[in-house]
Amino acid sequence: MTLIDPNKIPKHVAIIMDGNGRWAKKRAINRLDGHKKGADAVREIVEASREIGVSWLTLYAFSEENWKRPKREINALMALLKRFLKSELDRMVKNGIRLQSIGRIEKLPKSTRDVLLKTIEETSANKGMVLTLALSYGGRQEIVDAVRRIVVSCDREKTSPDEISEQLVSGFLYTGGMPDPDLLIRTSGEYRVSNFLLWQIAYTEFYITPTLWPDFGKNEYLTAILDFQKRERRFGGREKCI
Ligand code: IPE
Ligand code: IPE
Ligand code: MG
Repeated sequence: MTLIDPNKIPKHVAIIMDGNGRWAKKRAINRLDGHKKGADAVREIVEASREIGVSWLTLYAFSEENWKRPKREINALMALLKRFLKSELDRMVKNGIRLQSIGRIEKLPKSTRDVLLKTIEETSANKGMVLTLALSYGGRQEIVDAVRRIVVSCDREKTSPDEISEQLVSGFLYTGGMPDPDLLIRTSGEYRVSNFLLWQIAYTEFYITPTLWPDFGKNEYLTAILDFQKRERRFGGREKCI
């Protein structure tokens, strides 16, 4: 079993959960069954994150660009999300998990959005791990939305342009108040970020695995954490002198 250092657990883990379609294709079954199996993997990784003491877990569940997919697949994903949230509520409350979302959720179908908002509300007092679902999320859109709000706010507060700092911009992103991810995991072997957390991953460590998301379980998650623990993060500075 992998030996995780409990003092070096990444505070914030972000995951691009990719490969449900390929998982289904390999088995010559319906894509939607791949997404269903993907939801089981979500359950396992949420549970494992809480167990090892990750404080923030952010999952890329549906991108702004995923709206380009066939209507049938989108509808199935939205229905699956709704069912997932309903079935997980009790477990989230029991485990002290607070749910939140980032992205343009006003674009979600009303019935899915309603269940999402209700789950967010009902878990809002939880003090354990924060689970953030990126839904109808795009990093560029997030920056555009932030710029719009900054312009309005600066106009209202008469802020001068040189008062606009990195902290100020960060605070206006959907992730305002959250720490940047320490570790970004991408399953299914693509070496790209697909418009995820563009600003926030400036110094994030990447772990890319060929494993398809439905096959990504606790063991490989621990391997990713262990790999992270071996990295030397420099943030542009020099290696530690001894
Ligand atoms: C990830 O799996 C889930 C979503 C993007 C919603 P994909 O559906 O992208 O699976 P692949 O990449 O086609 O295998
Ligand atoms: C990224 O996967 C988005 C999510 C996991 C929700 P995609 O399958 O949409 O990414 P691309 O199209 O391969 O870049
Ligand atoms: Mg994909």
